Amino acid sequence: MLSGLSGTDQGPNDILSRHSVSFFPTLSSGSFNRIALLVSHTNPPSEDVSHTSPPSNDVSHTSPPPDAVSHTSPSAMAASAADTAARLAPGPDEPFDVNVDDASFEKLALWKARYGGTITVKPRERQSLALVLNEPEHVRHVLIGNHRNYNKGVGFERVKMLLGNGIIVSDGDFWRSQRRMIQPVFHRKIVEAQAGMMQTCNEAKLREWQDKAASGTVVDITTEMSALALEVILRALFSHDLDELIAQEGVNPFSMLVEDVTRDLKLAMRFRALTRHVTAIMARRREQNRIEHDFLSLMMETRDKESGQPMSDKALVDEVMTIIVAGHETTAGTLNWAWYLLSQDARVESLLHEEVDALGHAPGFGDLQALRYTRQVVDETLRLYPPVWLFSRKAINEDRLPGKDQDTRVPAGADIFLCPYLLHRDERYWDDPESFLPERFSDEASRQRNKHVYYPFSLGSRRCIGEFFSIVDMQLHLGLLARHIRFTHVVGKPVAVEPHINLRSLHSIMLMPELR
Ligand code: HEM
Repeated sequence: MLSGLSGTDQGPNDILSRHSVSFFPTLSSGSFNRIALLVSHTNPPSEDVSHTSPPSNDVSHTSPPPDAVSHTSPSAMAASAADTAARLAPGPDEPFDVNVDDASFEKLALWKARYGGTITVKPRERQSLALVLNEPEHVRHVLIGNHRNYNKGVGFERVKMLLGNGIIVSDGDFWRSQRRMIQPVFHRKIVEAQAGMMQTCNEAKLREWQDKAASGTVVDITTEMSALALEVILRALFSHDLDELIAQEGVNPFSMLVEDVTRDLKLAMRFRALTRHVTAIMARRREQNRIEHDFLSLMMETRDKESGQPMSDKALVDEVMTIIVAGHETTAGTLNWAWYLLSQDARVESLLHEEVDALGHAPGFGDLQALRYTRQVVDETLRLYPPVWLFSRKAINEDRLPGKDQDTRVPAGADIFLCPYLLHRDERYWDDPESFLPERFSDEASRQRNKHVYYPFSLGSRRCIGEFFSIVDMQLHLGLLARHIRFTHVVGKPVAVEPHINLRSLHSIMLMPELR
């Protein structure tokens, strides 16, 4: 745990609280303190409440990635890699190894402010230079244009302990074959079939919150969203085998992910030990010749289009563990922040209420198009708090990132870091970037914005496979719960981010529920 918080949840007289959600690096003893969030209720009203398009089932990223190296700048097209016109991006003299940790979170914000865009960082213990991409054209180039030149990189090393060689960490032909096989599991029709299960989970949560509201019991929204997101993903994978597992073990063994928020080696080993439950469920289904309408059965049945082969059991287990980890904490974190942001902003909250009340019934999959503002609330939460705030790639060969005046050099072997958190709050692309303004995601506003400044789910061929599933999950959750419940923040521990593998809240956020 970290010390040195630079702000607390204070009253409206606090000068900093003029910003609805702000982050301020402050200097202390030569190093930067945690970037803390300070909150007020003073968002300027906005009348532009237009709507985004409904969640799409954009599976365009499933198609085999293009081979072409496409550079946006004509000079880059003409030049060879040896051309001297490309320069190294500016950066600090201080050697530093960028990581998913607090020090990096603070340094990257500072260096971005100092150097403007993409920066080069010399390694401390690593072998290679690092580039932190803070220009949308550079993000596009690495994730889409010339993605074949980039592997997943150092940021995923720690995740490997948890996930084996699941698709979030694998590369090359193995990744391509796994992605091809898993993609149909996340097809729109399959997600639609899971929506009823999501609704059932949300209805149970509603009953709990109604009881808590009646008895004046505070909700630890951070822990509750974590438990709910875990339940949804486990039911999507195992359907009623989950209930059998809980009955057999007396508890849900996967709950350790909610209870133990460390993501260290000890937890990784305990988590890997859970693979025995996955293997047992698979064996039981095979024995009983049973195929369920869930992710696990779909993955057990899938075949590689080219080889006709199924996944090996080891690969299946790794993919199941990957989906649990990738799908749980990301959705949980987003809903945690969404409820917190709503508790801070009466204007946005009332627009959300207007929309969910106008629907007149509990939302289902078919209502998602009508819940456009709800969707914008989710999108804006993901802008301010992208759960995957920093992720990496490694350059295979030398490359150059296209620039208006000059290209930026990428040495072979360079570590590349992509930081949606910083680009999502970049004043060059967002007006009043610290404020919670879901209207930014109206169709019109989205059309006018550079397409590569917002990428909470990444871009290109490795874009999140669970994007549609999680959007449906979050829209249905807010759409149902906000019809009946609103929250007031119970001021206590500071509201601050913990920028580790995911961008979580440092402390649990406590909210008092009220019936509406
Ligand atoms: C708010 C919710 C979520 C966010 C913000 C999110 C974000 C991301 C990001 C940024 C990546 C790509 C990392 C990269 O390019 O290196 C990714 C990949 C992935 N996500 Fe998600 N995710 C979310 C929910 C989910 C859910 C619900 C699932 C599963 C049910 C899931 C499964 C995966 C998988 C399997 C990959 C690896 C895809 C590949 O490399 O081919 N995610 N996610």
